[in-house]
Amino acid sequence: MRILAFGDIIGKAGRRCLEKHLPSLREKYESEFVIVNGENAAGGFGLTEKIFDEFTKNWGIDCVTMGNHWHDKREIYQFMEKTQKLVLPGNMSNVEEDQGMRIFTTKSGEQAAVINLHGRAFMQGDNRCIFQTVDRLLARVPDRIKVRIVDIHAEATSEKQALGWHLCGKVSLVYGTHSHVPTADERIFENKTGFVTDLGMTGGYDSVIGMKKEAAIHRMRTGEPRKFEPSMDNPWIFAISATIDEKTGNCTAIERIKLSGE
Ligand SMILES: [Fe+2]
Ligand SMILES: [Fe+2]
Repeated sequence: MRILAFGDIIGKAGRRCLEKHLPSLREKYESEFVIVNGENAAGGFGLTEKIFDEFTKNWGIDCVTMGNHWHDKREIYQFMEKTQKLVLPGNMSNVEEDQGMRIFTTKSGEQAAVINLHGRAFMQGDNRCIFQTVDRLLARVPDRIKVRIVDIHAEATSEKQALGWHLCGKVSLVYGTHSHVPTADERIFENKTGFVTDLGMTGGYDSVIGMKKEAAIHRMRTGEPRKFEPSMDNPWIFAISATIDEKTGNCTAIERIKLSGE
């Protein structure tokens, strides 16, 4: 199974980029399953039902994972009840653990389990242990489902790598999100588990992690609050394509994608 995974989609610039390039990327990489992280899709903060429907119904995205901004738009509490395509960080204190794993069936009938987790290092909230949570969630995945994907939404590169090694041989693919900056360390652990520390964002790269740079500089220089808005400048897509053997669950190829969104 070929999987196309995108990190945080940032506001309108990120969405327009994705809309424009998703069909050709899907064709080029022969992707059967597409995942995006939607936590910043609506104005940089959270996810609306309209955008979620655009992703899943109009553009055919199979799965949307989230992160610390998952409930910034309160309407998610309504539409999350209506879908099985949304995966929330299963160890967050405000998320039920079973919302952190979903099982999907692709058009060709193959199945895949997707898990979303939230880091604990340098991140807010009194959240549950990522290692114990992921072990419990994996124990609930039927044995016949070998394709298993984990989005670890975390700040610390070390925490993401530790989780990757913890899951080596237990899942097919582990990737980080949240930093909004791609890392160039895509690899396959012990010929089993595909890994990259962070996918990077899809959005305006002439920015500070996707937000207009002027506001970020002002805040850092003066300590005064200033509203953060997503940048529209110089949009790029960063993503990965991974190939997974459905029989064994092993990742056999992983490729980083970098594409100007213009
Ligand atoms: Fe984010
Ligand atoms: Fe985040």
